[in-house]
Amino acid sequence: MAIKLFQPSINHLEKNAIVKVLKSKFWASGSGIGNVRKFEKKFQKFINSDTCISVNSGTAALNLALSLCEIKNKEVILPSLGFVSSANAVLLNGGIPVFVDIDPKTLCIGPNEIESAITKKTKVVLPVHFGGFPCKLDIIQKLCRRNNLFLVEDAAHAVGSTFNKTQIGSHGDAVCFSFHPVKNLAMPTGGLISINNKNHIIFRKKLLSRRWCGITERKSTSYDVKEVGNNYYMNEFSAAIGLAQLSKLKKMIPKRKIIAKKYFNELELEDKMPFSTNCSYHLYWISVKNRDKFRKILTSKGIESGTHYRPIHSFSLYHKNCSLPNTEKIGRQIVTIPIYPDLTNYEIDKIINTINKINSKF
Ligand SMILES: Cc1ncc(COP(=O)(O)O)c(C=O)c1O
Repeated sequence: MAIKLFQPSINHLEKNAIVKVLKSKFWASGSGIGNVRKFEKKFQKFINSDTCISVNSGTAALNLALSLCEIKNKEVILPSLGFVSSANAVLLNGGIPVFVDIDPKTLCIGPNEIESAITKKTKVVLPVHFGGFPCKLDIIQKLCRRNNLFLVEDAAHAVGSTFNKTQIGSHGDAVCFSFHPVKNLAMPTGGLISINNKNHIIFRKKLLSRRWCGITERKSTSYDVKEVGNNYYMNEFSAAIGLAQLSKLKKMIPKRKIIAKKYFNELELEDKMPFSTNCSYHLYWISVKNRDKFRKILTSKGIESGTHYRPIHSFSLYHKNCSLPNTEKIGRQIVTIPIYPDLTNYEIDKIINTINKINSKF
């Protein structure tokens, strides 16, 4: 059997949690057994933010977070190297995505690139903590305050990452998490918006309504609808699994870091993801010249790999005449390799030895 690229870490906790929800026969949140609210509260305590609203994906989190920023015909600064839903969320809210280049060492957008892209139309800065590697949040936050911009973080990769000893999720005006099954905290589907803003009570009210079809002012059987909303509710199964995963996070994240440190120290490649104890390592990336051939050999040796991501500005919908040399180069060369808590020492050594052997022949 091939070594998988991603794999959620599960045991009896997740199994028991699912059976309990199944037997309750209340599977939707609201009418459910309360796992969704319990998860929100526990996650909020874990990251220490003003408020948390769970939704059914990271994509939904981004769509809703940007809906708070009133970006119609306004610009949103973001990286092109990332998953397309961050840029889609800009378009869905009527905004204009402005892609900026990344630091070739961390693959995150940096303060200088952001600053030089700010115009009178800019409303939001949307950095992605790539692979869990935290962006320079202190400087980016100052930039945003100075220019009166919202900071909306795409933290889909960054559950368990830290910046200045505080959890990612406790900094930006809105921070969007994904709990997709391959993420650090896995659910069948799931996401969450964390809010850190003086208007968090108003924002929470808006998000609760927009998360469920615009429904507001519920009292017994009566309610009102004042604006359009979506069905972005997290379900009770996802939240039950999320609670189990959250309780194991303190063990799972250090395991990812141990693997990343070993890759960083033992992979004989010039370009690879740096090591930082602040990073929770959802992904580990390397950069190779002849990617297709490299990946074919890896596959033939029983090791799965990936290419995260194709730069967003290269898609037809976003095709733009922008020059992003670091993004384009890494977009051609990036390979993601297996990293998750249940990888065995034998598998880790096999991955390192195989990559070093292929690389020595290139
Ligand atoms: C950087 C990034 N942003 C957003 C998302 C969207 O998350 P989801 O798949 O939960 O909608 C993903 C995920 O896959 C991602 O990798």
